[in-house]
Amino acid sequence: MKARIAVTPGDGIGPEIVAEAVKVLKAVADKFGHELALDHHLVGGAAYDDCGDCLPDATLAACRAADAVLLGAVGGPKYDRLPGPQRPEKRALLTLRKELGLFANLRPAKVWAPLKDASPLKPSIVEAGLDLLVVRELTGGVYFGRHERAEDGLSALDYMPYSTAEIERIARVAFEAARKRRGRVTSIDKANVLETSRLWRETVTRIHEADYADVELDHMYVDNGAMQLVRAPQHFDVILTENMFGDILSDEASQITGSIGMLPSASLRSDGFGLYEPIHGSAPDIAGQDVANPLATILSAAMMLRHSLGLAAEADDIESAVGRTLADGVFTRDLGGTVKCSEMGQAVIERL
Ligand code: IPM
Ligand code: MG
Repeated sequence: MKARIAVTPGDGIGPEIVAEAVKVLKAVADKFGHELALDHHLVGGAAYDDCGDCLPDATLAACRAADAVLLGAVGGPKYDRLPGPQRPEKRALLTLRKELGLFANLRPAKVWAPLKDASPLKPSIVEAGLDLLVVRELTGGVYFGRHERAEDGLSALDYMPYSTAEIERIARVAFEAARKRRGRVTSIDKANVLETSRLWRETVTRIHEADYADVELDHMYVDNGAMQLVRAPQHFDVILTENMFGDILSDEASQITGSIGMLPSASLRSDGFGLYEPIHGSAPDIAGQDVANPLATILSAAMMLRHSLGLAAEADDIESAVGRTLADGVFTRDLGGTVKCSEMGQAVIERL
């Protein structure tokens, strides 16, 4: 098959980790006889330095025209003093999500067998099972509500709007995902305090009863959910939650697997188009040293093949090569090893 992928490496370690993922994609394309056009575009601080805008029109247009987007990371201390709306996180990442309609964020978190000692949780807890998927609503809630500062500067307001339609479509994504996994959805909200959460709970319950009664559903308040994640992670299969809770819980979920450098993500629209990126940031402190872990980006590329290009066997192939690489003790610095970023990419390709 032929596909066009917009590659947006971004800032910090972004270019290094994306370069390894691109090599892996090329190797898989060769092996299976696909033609992937991998066109590179500036995004984030790199784009700001070039033209004064973290999301140039040309980059947005290229992303729209592509079959999928592979992104590294954006942001860094150099850009922290830009006004809020111009910062890489807001201007590049949040605008891309909104403009491309990427409402469904999938963040799988699991412990890879060779890394089970890296988890900060007790072995007995890890051994009980830690393999979950956070389904985070990505284009609504407080991230995209109005943000206001009073004229006197002494008070501020952030609105957190949600509509039934927004809740319904993300709930369906979670239930569908659960059917392909262990068949359980835990919906996380703060319905004891927030009106949006009460609407969330009602809507999720209604969709469940109407169309997904075969899936097991439970509800948790977010404070309890955060606690259960470290106390009994085996409870969770699919976590369904709104934008900000999903941001926080996915970082927590990543840490309990022991290695934020391992976690990929997909941000999807209903037609299968998606943006794929590691869940970690641009790590400016280690940028340019060839020591970052490219596996989260390589695994994001695998998710891209599966979700946007319909290439499930190719995606499985990458994931299995990553598993064998780790089983052979090939570890980057974050995993306790000395292997370089570029060597890790090469090691995965050798095992493909
Ligand atoms: C994430 C990040 C972003 C978010 C930031 C960089 C705006 O933390 O993708 O989880 O909060 O969504
Ligand atoms: Mg986050």
